[in-house]
Amino acid sequence: MTSERVIAGMATSDGGGAGERFRSVYLDHAATTPVRREVAEAMAHYMLTDYGNASSVHSFGRRAAEATEEARARVADLMGARPEEVVFMSGGTEADNMSIRGSLAAYSDRGRHVVTTKIEHHAVLHTCEELEKEGLAEVTYLPVDRTATVDPDDVAKAIRPDTVLVSVMFANNEVGTIQPIMEIGRTCREKGVLFHTDAVQAFGAVPFSVDEMGIDLMSVSSHKLYGPKGVGALYVRKGRRIRPLIHGGGHERKRRAGTSNVPGVVGFGLAAELARKEMDDRVRRLTALRDRLIDGLLGRVEFSHLNGHPTRRLPNNVNVSFEFVEGESILLSLDKKGIAASSGSACTSGSLEPSHVLLAMGIPPEVAHGSVRMTLGTQNTDEDVDYVLEVLPGVIERLRAMSPLHAKAVAERAREAAGRPGERCESGPVTPGAR
Ligand SMILES: Cc1ncc(COP(=O)(O)O)c(C=O)c1O
Repeated sequence: MTSERVIAGMATSDGGGAGERFRSVYLDHAATTPVRREVAEAMAHYMLTDYGNASSVHSFGRRAAEATEEARARVADLMGARPEEVVFMSGGTEADNMSIRGSLAAYSDRGRHVVTTKIEHHAVLHTCEELEKEGLAEVTYLPVDRTATVDPDDVAKAIRPDTVLVSVMFANNEVGTIQPIMEIGRTCREKGVLFHTDAVQAFGAVPFSVDEMGIDLMSVSSHKLYGPKGVGALYVRKGRRIRPLIHGGGHERKRRAGTSNVPGVVGFGLAAELARKEMDDRVRRLTALRDRLIDGLLGRVEFSHLNGHPTRRLPNNVNVSFEFVEGESILLSLDKKGIAASSGSACTSGSLEPSHVLLAMGIPPEVAHGSVRMTLGTQNTDEDVDYVLEVLPGVIERLRAMSPLHAKAVAERAREAAGRPGERCESGPVTPGAR
């Protein structure tokens, strides 16, 4: 889907009459990205022509195996790793599961303590919780500050003699904050514990060096960097042991059984190669679009706050809380105008609980409920940002027109401006104050 696409709008309560034409703007690249055309074409070759099983000895199999190894080298290159350290699997979720379960099982002689954070993806958090229930792990969940940053000193203090693994995500999927990975890696190295990072959102988005960053295990996923869904990898530093999750044939050097997903792996490899070549350009373009979107929204909409770190954040992540409105209502209104964004407020189970990430950052639940995540991609343009800046303030204004709390806050602000502070808005939210 290109961002230039214009779609016919439906009759909407936002004023879009039947036949009205809207821009179609996809701003949910943290959820998934479109597959690059050349990636899809490379994959098609390994479905339609060289479709052999990479374990077969004949020429079809050999060509599939060669393509798999070329892809492995490309993914390793983007990590700053060696090809034999890359284990292909079904995606980030499997890589997170395997890194935690697999290392605890392989190093059970050292203990069963894991240090992680309260803002990890559920692929890490639920794995930890499950291991606790099974009696196989004791887990320390570290807090974060208002910008969603973990303090490396907290990591150092949490490590015990029986700690096997520290798992801290590279960049948060909701608010985009990039963690002090280098410092955490150094601490883990000094204390002699394994360091795993879930780099699903950061891989392909920012430059990497597993050696410089002291990473032992790293989860990555293809569909976040313009590759296909259902394929990812776990980086396992040479010399580190890991117990497989899936048993069967001796694929992936006996670390992950199952017939190789050759088209998927080929697509992932090419997507990684393109990300490496285009990295500087992508970072520059996306950062400029991101900052224009953030400044434009905060400047146009009062009672709005940026969530996450103001500068140490993913180049494509914009997460804003709009007080006095529900994130879900904003999303529905945006969707009617052709804008696809996501809510930081509803959890995946569909419950109305605010996001665990925003709550861990100390954002009050009523403010967390009004959060919207917009994640840019390589196809987005300046015109897309202009369109969002044109549409979103009006959406918020319409939704706030129904909020008595908003009316009260506006009256309060007017009284303050006139030098006559009135009674405080008791149930009014606290300003998160990121920016
Ligand atoms: C930080 C993070 N970890 C893990 C995952 C899961 O990756 P996959 O969709 O490849 O299973 C995601 C996906 O959104 C993610 O954002």
